[in-house]
Amino acid sequence: MDHQAPTLITSRPLDEYCRLFGLTRSRLGAVGGPVLDCPGGAAGLAAEARQLGCEVIAADPVYALPPPVLAELARAGRRATEAAARTDPGRYLPADRRSPEKYLRSWDRARRIFTADRAAHPERYIAAALPRLPFADRTFALTLSSYLLFAYPEVFSAQAQLAALLELARVTRPGGEVRVYPLHDGTGRRCPHLPGLRAALGGHRIATEMREVPAARPGARPHRLLVLRTPAREARRPRAQSFAAASG
Ligand SMILES: C[S@@+](CC[C@H](N)C(=O)[O-])C[C@H]1O[C@@H](n2cnc3c(N)ncnc32)[C@H](O)[C@@H]1O
Repeated sequence: MDHQAPTLITSRPLDEYCRLFGLTRSRLGAVGGPVLDCPGGAAGLAAEARQLGCEVIAADPVYALPPPVLAELARAGRRATEAAARTDPGRYLPADRRSPEKYLRSWDRARRIFTADRAAHPERYIAAALPRLPFADRTFALTLSSYLLFAYPEVFSAQAQLAALLELARVTRPGGEVRVYPLHDGTGRRCPHLPGLRAALGGHRIATEMREVPAARPGARPHRLLVLRTPAREARRPRAQSFAAASG
């Protein structure tokens, strides 16, 4: 059967996650509870972070696929990213990395680590699709979501983005954070309705912040994350109102 994925399956390593989300290895190692990576794709985070003493659970619908099919989709994601990086390096490569080969070698390593870890520890990789995750309320101390909700507006409408953000907030502990990156789509266009989404989240008593992550190295640029924080008290099971009603 020919499996078509509506999004690329990518395989970023832990250090790239740290750069994207304003983390360091030592901060990740000190997170006081489990971390959710959704979507996990074929990323190395879950496997690599364990070595820092950080328990990461990855969730992604592709974990329902047989491993060889997922492996081919991940290789296809790498090929597509390499082609895009050659055409438009400014958009697809980190500002301080001008060589697609060197950059994507780190993805190849992460993909190998992911494949071995998933085979050895399938319980760390949960087949699930936003906006419904099979985790109890307030399970995770930190939730990371990269290259999905705002990267693919053709897959996630404003209403679907809101439902997904509420679900990520539901499974995150009070005092913890949901961090989402990027805030733009594949053409570099920033999500036009972020203010409305933030207002809608506020209606569910979820605080939001646009947090600047400083450039990790000389030559790199700062970027912004959307950060969600859940209220400290009161058990919640938020249901998404219509986006227009909640934000308007
Ligand atoms: C571009 S990859 C990002 C993977 C990883 N976070 C990274 O940064 O390398 C997008 C991922 O989103 C997953 N995905 C697509 N629809 C999803 C959904 N409804 N819920 C969760 N993950 C989804 C895809 O299977 C794919 O693995």
